[in-house]
Amino acid sequence: MASLFSLSLLLLFLSFVTAAIDDSQFTFHEATIETIHLAFAQNRLTSRQLVHFYVDRVQTLNPSLRCVLELNPDALHQADEADRLRAAAGGDGTTLGHLHGIPVLLKDSIGTDDKLNTSAGSYALLGARVARDAFVVERLRSAGAVILGKASMSEWYSVRSFEMPSGWCARGGEGLNPYVKSGDPCGSSSGSAIAVAANMVAVSLGTETDGSIICPGDHNSVVGFKPTVGLTSRAGVIPLSPRQDSIGPICRSVSDAVHVLDAIVGFDPRDEATGEAAKFIPMGGYKQFLREDGLKGKRLGIVRKPFLDSFKGSTAASAFDQHLVTFWSNGATVVDNLEIENIGIILNPAQSGEMALLLAEFKHTLNEYLGGLSNSRVKSLAEVIAFNSNNPDLEKMEEYNQDGLIAAEMTNMLDEEVVEAERRMKQLSEEGFEKLMKENELDAMVTLGADAATVLAIGGYPALTVPAGYDDNGMPFGICFGGLKGSEAKLIETAYAFEQATRMRKPPLSYSTEFHYPHYQ
Ligand SMILES: *[C@@H]1O[C@H](CO)[C@@H](O)[C@H](O)[C@H]1NC(C)=O
Repeated sequence: MASLFSLSLLLLFLSFVTAAIDDSQFTFHEATIETIHLAFAQNRLTSRQLVHFYVDRVQTLNPSLRCVLELNPDALHQADEADRLRAAAGGDGTTLGHLHGIPVLLKDSIGTDDKLNTSAGSYALLGARVARDAFVVERLRSAGAVILGKASMSEWYSVRSFEMPSGWCARGGEGLNPYVKSGDPCGSSSGSAIAVAANMVAVSLGTETDGSIICPGDHNSVVGFKPTVGLTSRAGVIPLSPRQDSIGPICRSVSDAVHVLDAIVGFDPRDEATGEAAKFIPMGGYKQFLREDGLKGKRLGIVRKPFLDSFKGSTAASAFDQHLVTFWSNGATVVDNLEIENIGIILNPAQSGEMALLLAEFKHTLNEYLGGLSNSRVKSLAEVIAFNSNNPDLEKMEEYNQDGLIAAEMTNMLDEEVVEAERRMKQLSEEGFEKLMKENELDAMVTLGADAATVLAIGGYPALTVPAGYDDNGMPFGICFGGLKGSEAKLIETAYAFEQATRMRKPPLSYSTEFHYPHYQ
């Protein structure tokens, strides 16, 4: 009896102790910019500890997930500097940048003028020097962010080869979906999405030309935000298409994505498109639109055909109908069963001309970009192709050919087919998505999965994906919100209210069981 009694006393005591520890300890898992900043302010966490934690986690998980290509040798130093500045400010966070001490992972195509390489996943660009940080990196640094490293991606945005899988590059191999081992992580910003999904970094940046933020976000149960083309500068980022490229955040929550977006938007004289788009940026930034009642009064257009076809009869399809009820019960008007004109053509890049146009734009703009590098082994697309042929082992040419690069090299921006494709893209957008939005007076188009990304890509429209559930084998799916140019405020209100009402994201199980809370110095 006595021993049983003391055992229960001991257990009681232990449960008190663990409760006390849980209260005082910062939770690395699913940490947000807000929880990190709160922990900084309460002296429960330093940026150094956070960077240590993430570096450790990358070293443990990356051999299987293959989402990080390089860690920044200066990350700890940058964290120390952030900690020092915060101490000097006497804990007054208001004088510090909005991303102060926050580790950020960058897609490998986003240029940094530091020890990190910027290579689009290819060995051809190792050792090359960029003239300066990409504008978005400059902005991240001045907001106080710590650059943690570079994320893996589909090599040359998938242009490397028509036969390689999404999320593959010679330097990193094939990225793994953290939810379903055999699942597609989806590219091209695969590494950015995998890493935030598996809690290997706080927030990340990706880039999208057609689906490259929305699809990895969707497939890895994270939030992906592709802004209106030009809202974020592309200067210093390896280009694919000036008409369609956009730089945006991939994060675990809408709120984090919006904090990062606020840091990176703005006019940049080195990217003409930012001059036009700067007028969209609201006074006080985008944070003001993180409203829990953001669905109230919104008109949401539901497009099922053909986006629901691949989900017919699945858990995702019934979850989608459930989510429509959520929209409606939170005050939105749901306009169902809308259709986009010429959707079959829009979704077929050979028919629409998108493929031909992208390949031509890639050659043209990549040659410009490569010409601006110093110490580069390759100064043109033709030299990239030659590098691959001359280094078949490095570039794993036995595994995947480079027919995409070769096809791009054969294009010419002045070709009739290319000129005509550009005209057709415009027309398809005006008679398709624009008309749908305007005739139905919609605030956002809502679709299941990531396939609507193309509709939004070809016209430079913004898109935001939010986790919406998991199918029967655990594969995540998201809901994609799309809007007219400059409609970020409405998309944020809608997506944030939906996220808060549903809270569908769950961290990947297989990568949370090995989770523990060691002490980082
Ligand atoms: C960048 O690539 C070079 C190889 O050219 C390598 O020596 C260096 O370690 C790489 N940088 C980082 C931070 O990994």
